[in-house]
Amino acid sequence: MTGSTAVEDVIPDLSDPRTFVDAVPHDGFRRLRERDGLYWQPAKASPARGGYWAVTRFEDIVAIEQDPSAFTSTHGVSYPMIFPFPAPAPMCDNLMFTDPPRHAGLRRAAAAGFGPRVVANFDPWIREIVREVIADVESVTEFDYVDKFARTIPAYVIAKVLGCPREDRERIVDWTNRLFAAGMQTEDGMAAQIAAVQLVQEEIQAYCADMQERKRKEPADDMFTALAKIADAGDITQSEFLQWTLLILAAGFETTHTAIGQSMRMILENEDIRAATDRAVDEGISGKLANEFIRVISPAMQMARLATRDVEVAGTQVLQGDAVVLYFVSANRDGSVFAKPDTFNPWRTETATLAFGSGVHRCIGSYLAKLEVQILFEELRAAGIRLRLNGAPKRGWSNFINQITELPVARA
Ligand code: HEM
Repeated sequence: MTGSTAVEDVIPDLSDPRTFVDAVPHDGFRRLRERDGLYWQPAKASPARGGYWAVTRFEDIVAIEQDPSAFTSTHGVSYPMIFPFPAPAPMCDNLMFTDPPRHAGLRRAAAAGFGPRVVANFDPWIREIVREVIADVESVTEFDYVDKFARTIPAYVIAKVLGCPREDRERIVDWTNRLFAAGMQTEDGMAAQIAAVQLVQEEIQAYCADMQERKRKEPADDMFTALAKIADAGDITQSEFLQWTLLILAAGFETTHTAIGQSMRMILENEDIRAATDRAVDEGISGKLANEFIRVISPAMQMARLATRDVEVAGTQVLQGDAVVLYFVSANRDGSVFAKPDTFNPWRTETATLAFGSGVHRCIGSYLAKLEVQILFEELRAAGIRLRLNGAPKRGWSNFINQITELPVARA
């Protein structure tokens, strides 16, 4: 490459959270998908060789996620939270940070509780929560949609799934908000970020241990009780119990928060998307509508793996210890998989996205998250709520989550 056509000139620095502050760099990702092989992204927080491989095409990500023996999760699952290999791995009692065969046993402890048939039964109480949240703004003319909807709905839903008493719901909202804020990358660097996250996690874990005690005495049909029983039977350790409950809280919040906030931003900024949303709800395809919003938003923009051995991907030689960062946000707009990938189209027939990942670590909460978004749009339509932008939306400071932190709205 010569002069101004060098790839570094047209591809933004994907390792820098500032690249994502205004918007996701979709043009840069498209250029990368059109190039052969993987793209070497120089990166400060790299665990090896001063950078990582950016993986931007759908089929390359699927191939990597299908091979956990070559690409481990034990050394971190998203950039910049990845640690050198083969040094010992941190936080290994968290499901996301495990590889097969250990991963399968640990995942079994709770995955069935989030399966499609179980989750379909959640419809009535999720609808009740959504109606309650809508009723809360019925007499208000101006508000922050992120604050009133994106923060509350996922937190209330997760609190109910776990079996937290109703009076604890605001504590869950507070913790999940603090986790969200702590997870934002700042110029203070990764050490500050890890310390802030740990502080909130300690409080949550103390609460989860208390709930475990309560559920032993008063068992109920909820996730705390189910996991506490599995821990008491010795099928998972106490530390695994705590990591599981923490994971459900954290993984279920930040991503769904993003899906709810960003989908409304898209509607408010684009009349065609608003019209398509109304029509999709009226035609009874709000499940597909939710799926399409989550595809174009891709709340978890990337996940990462570390190579356990030298391995070739898309003609690129990846060396042992190299990090590969899997850009779901790019793969979900891969033109070889999705027709007119940048167009919002709830009627599209290619519905298998990578927004929830793939392979053994595929998100266990996908049915739950989609149901929340689906119900929200059905209930907003039923209540006749029409909103308009009332100020500039604010994005977060993250190259991991496609964050929106403020969405000022008013009644249209
Ligand atoms: C729109 C909302 C959501 C999105 C976009 C999302 C996305 C993801 C992604 C990308 C992964 C990693 C998959 C991989 O590495 O291949 C993941 C894993 C996971 N998610 Fe979600 N998620 C969402 C909602 C939820 C909810 C509501 C829960 C609540 C239970 C949840 C629980 C989990 C868990 C436990 C894992 C780890 C699975 C494993 O490592 O085996 N997620 N999610």
